Amino acid sequence: MTDPPPLPEPLAQQLATLGQQRLLAHWGQLEPTARDRLGEQLAGIDWRQVAAMRRLAADDTAAAALPVDAAWLTAAHTPAGPRLRTGGPSPGGLLTPAVAADCGTALLARGGAGAILVAGGQASRLRCEGPKGIYPVGPVSQASLFELLLGRVREIATRSGRPIPLAIMTSSATDSDTRAFLSEHAFFGLPPEHVLIFQQADLPALALEALDLLLDAHDHVAVAPDGHGGLLAALVAAGGLDWFAQRGVEHVASFQVDNPLAMPLDPEFLGYHLLADAEFSTQVVEKQQPAERVGVVAEHDGMHRVIEYSDLSDELAAARSPDGRLHLRAGSIAVHAFALAFLRRAAAAPDSLPLHLARKAVACLDAAGQLQRPAEPNAFKFERFIFDLMPFAQRVLTVEIEAAEGFAPLKNPPGAAADAPEHVQAALSAQAHRRCAEAGVAVADGIVIELSPAVFTAADIRQRVPSGRIDAAQVI
Ligand code: UD1
Repeated sequence: MTDPPPLPEPLAQQLATLGQQRLLAHWGQLEPTARDRLGEQLAGIDWRQVAAMRRLAADDTAAAALPVDAAWLTAAHTPAGPRLRTGGPSPGGLLTPAVAADCGTALLARGGAGAILVAGGQASRLRCEGPKGIYPVGPVSQASLFELLLGRVREIATRSGRPIPLAIMTSSATDSDTRAFLSEHAFFGLPPEHVLIFQQADLPALALEALDLLLDAHDHVAVAPDGHGGLLAALVAAGGLDWFAQRGVEHVASFQVDNPLAMPLDPEFLGYHLLADAEFSTQVVEKQQPAERVGVVAEHDGMHRVIEYSDLSDELAAARSPDGRLHLRAGSIAVHAFALAFLRRAAAAPDSLPLHLARKAVACLDAAGQLQRPAEPNAFKFERFIFDLMPFAQRVLTVEIEAAEGFAPLKNPPGAAADAPEHVQAALSAQAHRRCAEAGVAVADGIVIELSPAVFTAADIRQRVPSGRIDAAQVI
């Protein structure tokens, strides 16, 4: 038998410099296609970045891990902003709900709004097979998250009379299944020329002590998606900023696939964003309990940031204002609006999105080449967070929304105490009940109902329920 071809020299040299030759432990036994796969993966790794990741992990003290210094955090407070449907701080009387809604409607009507759906997560907490977006959550229809969210974009575009270009971010974990699912369902009625599917990058995991890369197959390095912050670089690489600009988009709203109540294209929200001339606007809900797993928007010294729940000390998370509300209570629900020009500027700035690291249990081969699935963290995983762009924005606006109207995240499997499918379905049905009550439609007690993405107003409901009564489960 002839010896297998060696790895190309510059790459072999790179591995040797970083002491990572053990990634080639099985090279000699690999089939040619498997060898090509590993060779290609190794060639695609940004080794300068790996060196930076190792430095970061080596300095993984509590202080180094914090995105801001403790003094900033202690001095920070909850930013003031308008509240959807009720207005809010209104300098010059500009920020009224009606004016804002008109302004956002005008943006939609001139085709100036685009959207980004963030759908690259591995859904590890939900423990579902395949991308989270295909999970059925419609309480009556069993419609998937994708069907509900894309349906809403489709219907808003129809009402506006202009297409809404939608970019969908996938990852190596979700890309092929997402593409197959969406094309099987004809993009749920969105015009294919106004849908861009792009894939975020992966980053290798590093072993906790040695900071070595790991294999999770003889021919594959253990990697994970680079966090939703990966969207900026991936969007640029896919030509997405130009794609939006060519379609006349001026502002882009982003939202997460796990929240079927998300309303990123709400005209009033977009209107506040425009009237405040904000580069980065974000929807928040009032955080009630210190233990809620949401990041909080905080402001100090003219700078806004999202502080992740895991980065907030128990003491700061629990601190209350004299009125009894949490001191840091602007809970981030990851629905943002960006000026397209801001995204361009941020994309051009080096290091605008720092790496965060977390200790995770990562499946990997042991010294004998057997796959092990540790129960305890054995590795660092690295991610970027899109909200870290906040400090780069000239003007940031928070818009408070009612959680019941815009935030029902699917994070956990059935039976969990919070954010499980049954909670999401209950929230969707409860919203439909409220809307029916407002429209004067009587719904029998205990009936599960659901609003179709095409329902916006009380008149829509009355038209679809001419009898004025609902006695059995139904999609309105
Ligand atoms: C996230 C936010 C938190 C916010 C909460 C609201 C972060 C770090 N935290 O928390 O501030 O209050 O949502 O629900 O974002 N995703 C990707 N690619 C990745 C990783 C994630 O596309 O590499 C997507 C997921 O598909 C999901 C979203 O980002 O749609 C959020 O990820 P998840 O891990 O569920 O974040 P949380 O910890 O719940």
